[in-house]
Amino acid sequence: MIDQLNAQFAIPDHIQFLSGPGEFPIAALQNGYGSAAVSVYGGHVLSYQPTGHEPVIWVSQLANYEAGSAIRGGIPIIFPWFGSHPADTSKPSHGFARRSMWQVTQTAQAASGETSITLVLTDTSATTALWPHQFKLSVTVTLGTRLEVSMRCDNLGDAAITMTNALHTYFAVADSTNITIKGLERIDYLDQLNDMQRKSSALPIQIAAEVDRIYLENSQQVDIVDPGLARTIHIRKQGSQSTVVWNPWIEKSARMGDFGDAEYLEMVCVEAGNVGDAAVTIAPNASHETRQIIWTE
Ligand code: BG6
Repeated sequence: MIDQLNAQFAIPDHIQFLSGPGEFPIAALQNGYGSAAVSVYGGHVLSYQPTGHEPVIWVSQLANYEAGSAIRGGIPIIFPWFGSHPADTSKPSHGFARRSMWQVTQTAQAASGETSITLVLTDTSATTALWPHQFKLSVTVTLGTRLEVSMRCDNLGDAAITMTNALHTYFAVADSTNITIKGLERIDYLDQLNDMQRKSSALPIQIAAEVDRIYLENSQQVDIVDPGLARTIHIRKQGSQSTVVWNPWIEKSARMGDFGDAEYLEMVCVEAGNVGDAAVTIAPNASHETRQIIWTE
């Protein structure tokens, strides 16, 4: 498979396929702006490092790389439902996209220096058993002055489809108890740790306990200010009505088998999606795209 991917999609000096953990095929992207790695399993960004800077994306040391599991860290593609399935909790949490093998369909090197790759997941008998719709989900990762990740859903069926989704990005931080997340002040959020109570705060977010919030807003810039790494991560988004902020803190970290007990100190998730009442309905032959744009200073 690796040889075939390289024969079809490698770009000398910019994109190469290799066998990653669990023997998942990985696309390694590099150019003057930095480097990134994308797993074909899950259509999942595993790393992003701008040239001369520390890694921006975090992956657990205990992540599982096996068919049927979700990879803990990186940018999991959450589709076609966020969290538990609304009607059947026996279905996989956060949908099936992050637990499926995808197809590489395109790679490109722009004259301006950006490197990109597109991966696609389409309906199969396995997805139809979980979600009875015909669709094409495309993830495009572009490594340029910023990292841009888009997930686009095309409705290929003849009935409208309704989905929730997210780019569930795990950001690397020096110490999560010493960061400030700015840009969500005074925006209402649903507190997943408190019966979905609707709340808001005038203050930037600081992490001193488990945080699991669904912010109900549109297209704000969020900044993760990290004095330990002397940097700020900037996050913008499009096609997303919800921002999810998550850190599992101590007890939940200990409960998760694929997450180190102290790893809650190394990460925070700031996710761009459409969650709960912000579910998106896509007419036949129409599409919807959610995009996250990430850079550091
Ligand atoms: C977040 C949710 O998006 O994902 C949390 O808000 C959840 O409630 C977290 O715990 C991780 O989910 P999972 O399925 O990857 O363990």
